[in-house]
Amino acid sequence: MDPLVIESRRHDRSWVGFGETGYQRIRSSGGRRVLIADARLQAWVGPVAERVDADAVYSVDVDESTKSLATVGRLYEWMGAAGVTRDTTVVALGGGVTTDMVGFAAATYQRGLRWCAVPTSLLAQVDAAIGGKTGVNTPWGKNLVGAFHLPEVVVLDEAFLATLPQREWLAGLGEVLKSGLIRGGALYERLDGLRLPPEGPLEAWRDIIFETAAIKIDIVNQDLYETGSRMFLNFGHTIGHALENVLGYGVLSHGEAVGLGSLAALELSRKLCGLSPAVEVRVRQWMSLWGLPTVMPPVDFDLLWSRLRQDKKARSDGLTWVLLEAPGAPRLVSNIDQNVVRGVISHLQGG
Ligand SMILES: NC(=O)c1ccc[n+]([C@@H]2O[C@H](COP(=O)([O-])OP(=O)(O)OC[C@H]3O[C@@H](n4cnc5c(N)ncnc54)[C@H](O)[C@@H]3O)[C@@H](O)[C@H]2O)c1
Ligand SMILES: [Zn+2]
Repeated sequence: MDPLVIESRRHDRSWVGFGETGYQRIRSSGGRRVLIADARLQAWVGPVAERVDADAVYSVDVDESTKSLATVGRLYEWMGAAGVTRDTTVVALGGGVTTDMVGFAAATYQRGLRWCAVPTSLLAQVDAAIGGKTGVNTPWGKNLVGAFHLPEVVVLDEAFLATLPQREWLAGLGEVLKSGLIRGGALYERLDGLRLPPEGPLEAWRDIIFETAAIKIDIVNQDLYETGSRMFLNFGHTIGHALENVLGYGVLSHGEAVGLGSLAALELSRKLCGLSPAVEVRVRQWMSLWGLPTVMPPVDFDLLWSRLRQDKKARSDGLTWVLLEAPGAPRLVSNIDQNVVRGVISHLQGG
């Protein structure tokens, strides 16, 4: 498959491509390369260091709770000790936590180094490693400190997914579902009846990953700094984020929360944008096949609503929702009445 390209207004570019083409591009970047990897992926570190021709490797214990400035400080220290200079390329190997954090360290060390991403989780391959948003969490909120810094190369390699636990598949499926809905067309059709590995073939998922990544790249190309159409990528995330926040992070995986948020967005779309009810029926079939929950947990609506109001993407003029007129036809809708949302949530809770 040909690599896809993201071009930003600042004239940096990202090549996103499959397998060897991508590794080759990383190898041929000028200067030296260092690899920073999620320590849990020990088995992949050696082979990837070789494929990208890295001359120094740092394995770091990372998870959502240590996605912090303190850990980035340790990355800076290591980069200093490893003799990283302005012409060094930093390669990140791991899931979204690793690519966000290593990307941020690369964006800031010596005022910005080239970096490349080798994402290993479904979520990172279709979303986190693409689009140049990098950053860390703070004690008062997720991803609040960061920078836009496009990776030069993103290597998509489905081989990593052979070791990905089921729960981590679920974490990435929300983005796949969202992309199928906002883009419609081939991706939407292809998701029908597709099972997760080992029942569903990894090769079929390779195509899904490519198409999902391509949709994000298309939208990011139009709107890197999220002033307009990049907001479509927030489909299912308004309720999804609020649910994660109210329940406490980690209770539902991100994909589970986005799946439920998508069902809410589909019901709102039916009421407010004339979406056919057949779409929700179909999406529920995919979710059941994949093992994503379709019943909303019993959260208190007033609490959920107060979190919605604090959504990072809420603007001073109110909350903007991404709804659908049809698969492939998303629409931004502002200021939906609280009682309409209440009715939908109560319905999804089985009430
Ligand atoms: N920058 C963006 O645009 C963007 C978009 C979406 C999400 N994110 C961020 O991405 C993060 C979530 O990403 P994630 O779900 O990949 O988290 P993660 O990096 O914590 O990976 C999830 C788990 O899977 C393991 N893992 C990863 N690849 C594996 C493999 N091939 N085999 C076995 N285990 C593997 C990891 O060790 C970890 O335990 C969040 O911090 C989120 O904020 C960023
Ligand atoms: Zn998401």
